[in-house]
Amino acid sequence: MSTPFHRIDHVGHPHIRCDRRRTDHSVYTTRVRNDLLNDAKRHRFAFHFCRVAGIAGKQIITPPTKITSMKHTPGTGTDSGYVPGRSIAEIAEEYRIPVDSIIKLGSNENPLGPSHAAVRAVTERASGISVYPESDARDLCDAISEYTGHPAENIVAGAGMDGVIDTLMRILMPGEAITPTPTFSYYAISARAHHGTPVFALRDRDFAIDPQDILSQVTDETRVVFLCSPNNPSGNLIPESDLQTILEGLEGRDAIVFLDEAYVEFSERSMIHLAGEYDNLVVGRTLSKAFGLAGLRVGYGVMSERIRERYLRYATPFAVSSLATAAGIAALGDREHLKRSIELVRDGRRKLAGIPFHVYLSEANFVLVDVSPHRSDAVCDFLARSGIIVRDCSSFRGAGDSLVRVSVGTAEQNARVVEAFSEFQGTYNK
Ligand SMILES: Cc1ncc(COP(=O)(O)O)c(C=O)c1O
Repeated sequence: MSTPFHRIDHVGHPHIRCDRRRTDHSVYTTRVRNDLLNDAKRHRFAFHFCRVAGIAGKQIITPPTKITSMKHTPGTGTDSGYVPGRSIAEIAEEYRIPVDSIIKLGSNENPLGPSHAAVRAVTERASGISVYPESDARDLCDAISEYTGHPAENIVAGAGMDGVIDTLMRILMPGEAITPTPTFSYYAISARAHHGTPVFALRDRDFAIDPQDILSQVTDETRVVFLCSPNNPSGNLIPESDLQTILEGLEGRDAIVFLDEAYVEFSERSMIHLAGEYDNLVVGRTLSKAFGLAGLRVGYGVMSERIRERYLRYATPFAVSSLATAAGIAALGDREHLKRSIELVRDGRRKLAGIPFHVYLSEANFVLVDVSPHRSDAVCDFLARSGIIVRDCSSFRGAGDSLVRVSVGTAEQNARVVEAFSEFQGTYNK
């Protein structure tokens, strides 16, 4: 009996779907469906794999361990789970490129790496990992308090900002979560995971939000409006007056605004001061970007005491590990590293503005490029073949299929990126 669509794990891409038939106790027969090839063709890796492996419509034998039971819906990354940036190992294997010649500019990481003080703190604390950390990461919250200027009584720390979002969804959902797209996809994923319903509002052509449109979507079921400033993937800020309009429009309702400031250090303006003024505002931040601690998972939220009290009641205890806490405190104290990281990004953005397509103005550590009339997947494939990983934004709901996000790298990496885009232009725009 054939079961519906399963992914072959070693294909490593969600867009190849297969019929799976169990033929005996240990062997599965897997056939890439012919009718999916048209679809697969639109996805560079799937198409590439089918061609190279010669599996179009043929029977191939795959051990059971290579098959997962995940279901996927092609082309809608937001609905089928979080789509992370591609890894160096993946690209090295797919394109047979030496690992050390690949540059990874698809996940908005810090090209300087972490602060040395943070690395030292991790090393020094390593022998203490048999002991639980503080359950509420109090010392880290004190350091965040010093950095943000907000009292520790208004701060929570979590396993990345994603962890903070998850805990908030635990207390706010079920209900509706308004999300202006395109934006960071994890808001909708987390809301759904907690039995909530994402409600999508559209940003305009320049990725600006429309506060009145957002407020018109508010119902008695609305529990949260997610706003991202600077927005991922577009890099633009939300005007403070727009945020205030939404906060005031929600007054008297059992709903908050979650303002995501993951990239705020690279921008000219934060709105975190409003967290002290509006009881219904939660500001999320992370140490994954400007502080270079993405691998350790440290994020935080600034919120009213009322919301914090509810948050702590339902939060996972010990959410921030002892090593992450130590590194976080050290990184927050290393202002020199922070300053250098910000300067590098600001210089790099100027360099990336030289990419020969429309490059949106960005206040983050990435730029968004519209590669029209070309498709984003074709451009990303071309760059990957030259060992450059960037982010194809077609998996962002509402982003269309011509947007590519490029993280700012070192000066040398940025120059390589501009050159590769120019080469693409030279090759395909003749
Ligand atoms: C806008 C935005 N918010 C939140 C996050 C998640 O941050 P963290 O690594 O702290 O979970 C990301 C990560 O890329 C992001 O782009």
